[in-house]
Amino acid sequence: VEAYAQELKAALHQYPNFPEKGILFEDFLPIFRCPKLFQKLVDAFKIHLEETFSTGKIDYIVGLESRGFLFGPSLALAMGIGFVPVRKAGKLPGELVSAVYQKEYGTDVCEMQKEAIPANSNIVIVDDIIATGGSAAAAGDLVKQVGGNILEYCFVMELDFLKGAEKLSAPCFTLLNAQQEALKEAN
Ligand code: PRP
Ligand code: MG
Repeated sequence: VEAYAQELKAALHQYPNFPEKGILFEDFLPIFRCPKLFQKLVDAFKIHLEETFSTGKIDYIVGLESRGFLFGPSLALAMGIGFVPVRKAGKLPGELVSAVYQKEYGTDVCEMQKEAIPANSNIVIVDDIIATGGSAAAAGDLVKQVGGNILEYCFVMELDFLKGAEKLSAPCFTLLNAQQEALKEAN
């Protein structure tokens, strides 16, 4: 996993002053342009999860709109399990559970289909990055509302100085950590 992480880190593209002045944006989209790197991203998470949980333990990967959709379904397919999306409000049909969370300006609402996850399912929640942890915590809330059991949260990157992981009620795994110091300085 560490060898894959080094190679993936090198593929990140830094954009200073995006989305606003003083922020160093770490873009992980270059990974998806290269099938070998995309495969390594999926494999790294798969290997980590296989090392952490017994075979057959994880029932679903739950991914957050939108950047969690870029690799969540691929990871689920590689592991032979289902993928369930958490979407921003107003996008999903049927009976839903919803959770309110804090964004930079005001609040946001995310939703999940009630029937998507049977009670007592074991869930891994994935997203590209954890910042304040608000989005991930809200997704976790949705999983709990339908009686799911969160085994772990998996992120590609983490802004660890924001201490978002402290908002989460399950362990938090971050694949790429190297850019944290740079981000800290940029902020
Ligand atoms: C970003 C990012 C995470 C979330 C992290 O998504 O992709 O999902 O913010 O922030 P938090 O930990 O403070 O909640 P965003 O809502 O900007 O939308 P996107 O994924 O659709 O680009
Ligand atoms: Mg997002």
